[in-house]
Amino acid sequence: MSQRRIGLVGYGDVSIVHVGAIEAIDGLELVGIADTDPAARERAAAETSLPVHSSVEELIEALRPDAVHVTTPHDQHVDPSLAALERGVHVLQEKPLAHTLAEGERLVEALGSLRAARADGGAGAPKIGICFQNRYNRGSQELARLLAGGELGEMRGAWASVVWTRTAQYYEAKPWRGRWETAGGGLLINQAIHTLDLVQWLLGPVERTEGLVSQRKFAGVTEVEDTADLVLHHASGVTTTFYATLTAPAARPVEFEVETEKASLEVRSGGVGGLTVRWKDGRVDTFSDRVAAPGGRAYWGVSHEELIRDFHASLDDPEPFWIGPGEAMASLRILTDAYRASGVGS
Ligand SMILES: NC(=O)c1ccc[n+]([C@@H]2O[C@H](COP(=O)([O-])OP(=O)(O)OC[C@H]3O[C@@H](n4cnc5c(N)ncnc54)[C@H](O)[C@@H]3O)[C@@H](O)[C@H]2O)c1
Repeated sequence: MSQRRIGLVGYGDVSIVHVGAIEAIDGLELVGIADTDPAARERAAAETSLPVHSSVEELIEALRPDAVHVTTPHDQHVDPSLAALERGVHVLQEKPLAHTLAEGERLVEALGSLRAARADGGAGAPKIGICFQNRYNRGSQELARLLAGGELGEMRGAWASVVWTRTAQYYEAKPWRGRWETAGGGLLINQAIHTLDLVQWLLGPVERTEGLVSQRKFAGVTEVEDTADLVLHHASGVTTTFYATLTAPAARPVEFEVETEKASLEVRSGGVGGLTVRWKDGRVDTFSDRVAAPGGRAYWGVSHEELIRDFHASLDDPEPFWIGPGEAMASLRILTDAYRASGVGS
């Protein structure tokens, strides 16, 4: 891969993962940071000694990066990403695609227009990838491989659960996280979206979502849901039973279990993760996730860095990155349906 100059847009909690990955991956160089908050800019300058700017536009004008990583709050995803794409700069954007379905559609449509307006028919257009890094977990990858291989027989359906913990301090430290206007929701759009994405990627499109979201613990602290209890109806006719909550005293590993004619498959992520395949003839196969070295970034696992590496390696390919805005619309549609069914959200 040719040498690539990268700008970081948003210097908050998740930026440690992006800065660390850019440092660790050969051929990538972080050249500057943009943040709208003067305190974050001060911290960025002190911690990195790189040039800091107050907007993505200013950063691009001053530094001419090849790509930017957009790591801003949910309602601040589409504008910075579009500003970069319109200036010919590649974008790796954090999940979710956007804080509302309408904003997500705006990005998808603008990207289509940008591609259509090019003389090359879009082949050389700047690319955009969305950080759904759990697709890079070894357990997810092995499950995808087995499902595509056809040896599992008929698909019967799935079960998934995300039982995690959050504190009032998590929301008080960054008030955008607890508000509909800025986050577009709570547990589903911020945390459980990774599992919704995996479910629809591996079992196919979700046509209909039944169930409800609710606030069971953080009333008075946030406006948004902290618990969800859903059944996802896939276009293929099977269903996924889905439970998620942030009300537990400690985080459990995320569970994702797929039932097929020939085997039961259990994916775990968080802690010691991976895939266990229990074949109905008695055989058991296990595939362990790769584990990060202990330290600051260990909490986030290795898959985020894998996705970042793969995105940059793919920039020389003619095809769009495989996890783009179209893919990311799917999880946004599922959670928007759950919000509508529950009478909450925009
Ligand atoms: N993929 C993952 O597993 C993962 C994990 C954590 C967070 N995230 C995502 O990363 C994003 C950021 O989360 P966070 O917890 O780091 O948030 P944060 O609040 O800690 O940081 C966001 C930073 O963006 C800055 N900002 C706001 N608007 C901006 C704009 N228009 N231009 C430039 N800077 C702007 C803020 O001042 C802040 O410093 C969210 O979308 C979140 O969902 C993803």
